[in-house]
Amino acid sequence: MCGIVGYTGKESVTDQLLDALELLEYRGYDSAGLATLNGETGKVKLRKCAGRVKDLRKICRNDKKISTCGIGHTRWATHGGVSDENAHPHRSGDVLLVHNGIIENYEELKDHFMLHKDLKSQTDTEVVAAVLNRFYQGNPHEAICRTIKYLKGTFALVVMFSDQPDILYAIRNVSPIVAAYNGDGTMLASDVVALGAAAEKYMVVPEYMILELHKDEIKLFDLDGKQCEPEFMDIDWDTTRGGKGSYPFYMEKEIMEQPDALKATMESRIVEGKIDLTADAIPDEFLRDCNRICVIACGTAMHAGLVAKVLVQSKFNMHMNVEYASEFMYGNPVLDEKTLVLAISQSGETIDTLEALKYARRQGAKSVAIINVKGSSIARESDYVMYTAAGPEIAVASTKAYTTQLVALFLLVGRMAKVRGVFDEAAEKEYLENLVEAPAKMLEVLEQKNEIHKIAREMLDAKDAFMIGRGLDYSILLEGALKLKEVSYIHTEAYASGELKHGTIALITENTPVVATVTQTNLKDKELSNIREVQSRGASVVLFVKESFDLADAEYADVFALPAMADEFMVFPASVALQLLAYYVSMDKGLDVDKPRNLAKVVTVE
Ligand code: AGP
Repeated sequence: MCGIVGYTGKESVTDQLLDALELLEYRGYDSAGLATLNGETGKVKLRKCAGRVKDLRKICRNDKKISTCGIGHTRWATHGGVSDENAHPHRSGDVLLVHNGIIENYEELKDHFMLHKDLKSQTDTEVVAAVLNRFYQGNPHEAICRTIKYLKGTFALVVMFSDQPDILYAIRNVSPIVAAYNGDGTMLASDVVALGAAAEKYMVVPEYMILELHKDEIKLFDLDGKQCEPEFMDIDWDTTRGGKGSYPFYMEKEIMEQPDALKATMESRIVEGKIDLTADAIPDEFLRDCNRICVIACGTAMHAGLVAKVLVQSKFNMHMNVEYASEFMYGNPVLDEKTLVLAISQSGETIDTLEALKYARRQGAKSVAIINVKGSSIARESDYVMYTAAGPEIAVASTKAYTTQLVALFLLVGRMAKVRGVFDEAAEKEYLENLVEAPAKMLEVLEQKNEIHKIAREMLDAKDAFMIGRGLDYSILLEGALKLKEVSYIHTEAYASGELKHGTIALITENTPVVATVTQTNLKDKELSNIREVQSRGASVVLFVKESFDLADAEYADVFALPAMADEFMVFPASVALQLLAYYVSMDKGLDVDKPRNLAKVVTVE
């Protein structure tokens, strides 16, 4: 929900922090700030403002950039509105603090420590800074240990003490912090992508351990003060690839990267024409012995789960439910050791999904996580992990993460079909022949992006829109609707087209924009008939149809032929077309496609 960075080393810290914060703005971008500490003079400089990192850069431009130790933060407001005062870092006496998470008992702490008159902001973070300062008598570890005993909630705290030059301290509970050696210094951040191109290996700060960042050393201590060896992992993608390249927005770059991302996600899992999950170490008995599957996820990740449900229920006589993670544990789900829980998450840090997964595991369910970020909290919580190879996804609107999640799910379901005897060799071969075609079919759509751009231009003035389809088309359109609404702010509703006539069709009037996908052979005729129902009430219909389908002679505002695949694989070309539609509407409306209002890339509050 917020982005945190810290650096100490030989380089001027201000630029290091500003550049890293820009790479973390996808995590939250309503205000930003940094604090630097000059090791020689002990002078602290604190700069913060409502607005973007570029606004922060402006207010730092005349600073003499001589300090080499500092912390930075980009915020997605939770406690307290968007204001300079509420921006981080927060200072209390010798303590300078940035924080990502939610301190649930911050009001009680205000009373307990009688802080009210000391506080200048409405944030929970400033309360933590004041408590740290209350306990700080020159021993950072002691202050940190005493403070966290009072904290309820999630936190990634990075602290700088004004009398401890060149050293940063960090501790976390749930909210992420990673650290690395970065050329001439050491760096920490909320996400690997901000650790700098010079970083080759990184460590995930274990929960409730104190990290010390020194100019030339990263130290880790348990709460008893015992030093422990940090565990480093390779950074398996080129973090400099986080740049936009020649694209105007990350979203377009990431849409275009999908064919390669799918290939990268498949390549290690298809060996000699067979699905091979050895690298994921998921035992076959996991897939053979479960008697129900439950997906827990949020947003786009949940929509990937809906596609998996269509696959599972078409292949196995098995119950499968797909739950919003934030609702999951309040519905008293029936779970036991025969339940396989699939936790799907791009970031691996979505707290709704993490808490739901912990709940499911407490009930005895087995778990497989489908994750894009290595070493993330959900990955570490799950029995097994299938990592997608989408690479860093910076745009808030998820695109390549979604389609690589689909590939992982297709492979998992395919393996399950094999071990359960549903697939013989021939069936597995045919299934894989279709799956490995997905990148090329998506590329065919990408090569016609200008066609979709033309269609998008017709929707720019829409206030509301509908997306209608049945079965797998409906699942595809739920994701298409989320894309369009989150980047273009057009209120878009995906609707099962057969259900429309039971009330909602009352909203269809002259020129109401309706997007329809028709890709499923067994549903085609009914879908076309539902489309005619809205057309007869004046709707302006944009139709994305499998190219091999012959269309009834009806008037469509636009028709886009989707490259044909076997029905269940049509999610790949159809999703890319809907992503492009959303992207171009947002871009042509002049919006900030990558950072839509009110959103953040990683939602670490419940
Ligand atoms: C989708 O475009 C959004 N970015 C959002 O719905 C996202 O999919 C959701 O917050 C889940 O995030 P995760 O995959 O990182 O868990």
